[in-house]
Amino acid sequence: MPQDPENSDEVTRPYDRLVLVCVKGKSCPLQGAENICSQLREEIFQKGLTHRIRVVKSGCLAQCGHGPVVAVEPNGSWFSEITEEKVPSLARWLLGEAELPQEMLYSPPQLGKNILPVKDWPIPPESDSGS
Ligand code: FES
Repeated sequence: MPQDPENSDEVTRPYDRLVLVCVKGKSCPLQGAENICSQLREEIFQKGLTHRIRVVKSGCLAQCGHGPVVAVEPNGSWFSEITEEKVPSLARWLLGEAELPQEMLYSPPQLGKNILPVKDWPIPPESDSGS
């Protein structure tokens, strides 16, 4: 008998954690998201845990301006304004070596899209050379 996916408790995921790093939208790429993704991947690789934690490049998560945005599933923990300096703390939590970095958690104003006006996007100075 086929199972109702809405009511199934069966776990079928091949990784403990799936880490989505928004790198394709309008704001996160300007905020260093590619570097964040690379740094996270390197931390996971160095610990030999690529079989348990998968870091993937994501398209826009519709939270533009709050980035770089990182979403961790199935935890449901989302992080905003991740910088290179914050990656080690985030990685330690992903690796099970530290508590959840509460100060980095994203607090969405509402469910669904939360896109800031462009003028409010915090863009690192080195990425703002076009203005
Ligand atoms: S560009 Fe990252 S959430 Fe839209």
